[in-house]
Amino acid sequence: MRTHYNGRVTSSLVGEEITLCGWVNTRRDHGGVIFIDLRDHTGIVQLVFDPDTPESFAVAERVRNEFVLRVTGRVRPRPEGTENPELATGEVEVLGHEIEILNAAEPIPFQLDDEHVHEDVRLRHRYLDLRRPRMQHHMRLRAQVARTLRRFLDERGFLEVETPMLTRATPEGARDYLVPSRTHPGCFFALPQSPQLFKQLLMMSGMDRYYQIVRCFRDEDLRADRQPEFTQLDIETSFMDAVAITDLMEEMIRELFREVAGIELPDPFPRMTHAEAVRRFGIDRPDLRIPLELTEISDLMKAVEFKVFSGPANSENGRVAALRVPEGGRLTRKQIDEYTEFVGIYGAKGLAYIKVNERDAGRDGLQSPILKFLPDGVIESLLERTGAMSGDLIFFGADRASVVNESLAALRVRLGHDLGLVEEGWRPLWVIDFPMFEWDEKESRWFALHHPFTAPNTDDPDELRANPGVALSRAYDMVLNGSEIGGGSIRIHRREMQDTVFELLGIGAAEAEEKFGFLLEALKYGCPPHGGIAFGLDRIVTLLCGASSIREVIAFPKTQTASCLLTRAPAPVDDRQLRELHIRLRKPVE
Ligand code: AMO
Ligand code: AMP
Repeated sequence: MRTHYNGRVTSSLVGEEITLCGWVNTRRDHGGVIFIDLRDHTGIVQLVFDPDTPESFAVAERVRNEFVLRVTGRVRPRPEGTENPELATGEVEVLGHEIEILNAAEPIPFQLDDEHVHEDVRLRHRYLDLRRPRMQHHMRLRAQVARTLRRFLDERGFLEVETPMLTRATPEGARDYLVPSRTHPGCFFALPQSPQLFKQLLMMSGMDRYYQIVRCFRDEDLRADRQPEFTQLDIETSFMDAVAITDLMEEMIRELFREVAGIELPDPFPRMTHAEAVRRFGIDRPDLRIPLELTEISDLMKAVEFKVFSGPANSENGRVAALRVPEGGRLTRKQIDEYTEFVGIYGAKGLAYIKVNERDAGRDGLQSPILKFLPDGVIESLLERTGAMSGDLIFFGADRASVVNESLAALRVRLGHDLGLVEEGWRPLWVIDFPMFEWDEKESRWFALHHPFTAPNTDDPDELRANPGVALSRAYDMVLNGSEIGGGSIRIHRREMQDTVFELLGIGAAEAEEKFGFLLEALKYGCPPHGGIAFGLDRIVTLLCGASSIREVIAFPKTQTASCLLTRAPAPVDDRQLRELHIRLRKPVE
């Protein structure tokens, strides 16, 4: 139907007769001449219709935004002074002499160049929203990312294998999406939270190196970087240790960023232990572009009379930490109140601070509601340890370590953005040496920090059993600019160790047999040492696009409440369908 794409009509075509197709981006009537900007996925070109061709001029007059056209005309240079350097096609225009309306369009619910349309409206009419050049770019970049990753892995002997969507629960820490079975009354499939167990089984099958670009499903609280269904680049290898796997994976990510965005990532990526990340940044996915760090001061606060500090300082799972904000002295009372409210979201009961007006003037150079509670010696050590200088402000967190870490980590990021401290560039890192388990206070039991198939740092089940709290795992997360873009580990490949880990997690032998019997059995028949990783493809593309949310890089995403506004899923189903599935709905309580 067409000879050229709109965005490719440049000076080299001047004098040629061409045929174009696309959507009307805008139409302007300039006293006797009609200009139409015709759009397709490659860009926009300007068409001109003048009354010398009365038939096509009459049609052009009827045309409105978003009509679909087919136009034949001759390419000519734009008159001097009317060139548009913003457009690839800005030096030329097409004098149309044939125009065919392939389809009319009603006025659309929002303007495509309006950046302030409510997201619900965009999602409700996603097919229109995707016409925006920015969204076209996101979708194309996403495809390029997938293509580049596939090629990298194909060239290195990785085999793409599909794994089932209708399966059993894979514990990755979220709730499952369930699918009722018609043929097995009362039974349910779970949609995979990840292909974790299948990829391990594929290693036991001798596939050697596996990958899959695969949809995963997790029913969890949604945030800007989470979707209930999202895409992983899922990878597993045999006979490779953690160093070999992480080396290969960072090479892949470096190549990806170079190829699709011309970005040079560091070689090698720095590695940081989980303990160091939490100590310095309060979080296991630090954004290294923000030059603010926590300072440990629990030891200084053990004997102070201020109970808010001495309590957590003397408690086994408490923490007192400081966050120095260079030149933070200019923060107003109102701003400090706002930050106090902000850390409250993370459970902090307050946000003590000291303004350092004059570093060398001792107590008199400081301004703070907590000064009176702190002896001179403590104050001096504090200033020294945080490296405080005149004009700075120091924030404090004192509570259970988890509360201090979460609240100060979030405050650090917020301050970094508010104060314009975020450095340019790309700061990847590996976080390694995660604890194997995490103690859950409420349920009084151990939880796996990654999943229960992650290998501990020891090969001796008795050693693990003796002291699960200090055991580290062979897990590694890839973090980029504060986003966890991938996570993986070396897996348990011996039956005895897997039994021990289940036991420590409070999964009894009978339950383990019932849920993971197939895996436990497979471990008996010659399982190679293996390990792998999964990357969050949506998150990587979000970063590469510089997008504000993961929803900007998914063609048809779900809302924050996990619904699809376009198709209106989820939706009720009729009674017959329910009956076939052996399901009766609970009546809402009156
Ligand atoms: P994990 O649970 O860390 O590991 O997931 C791997 C990566 O997937 C991305 N991700 C998400 N992206 C969008 N929305 C979500 N709800 C979401 N949840 C996770 C993150 C994360 O780093 N089976 C293991 C991997 C392994 O051990 O090989 C797993 O799924 O970027
Ligand atoms: P108060 O004695 O409760 O008035 O608190 C004195 C200062 O300590 C105030 O600035 C509070 O915001 C701060 N504060 C209170 N509890 C905490 C806490 N758990 N961590 C950090 N600062 C706190």
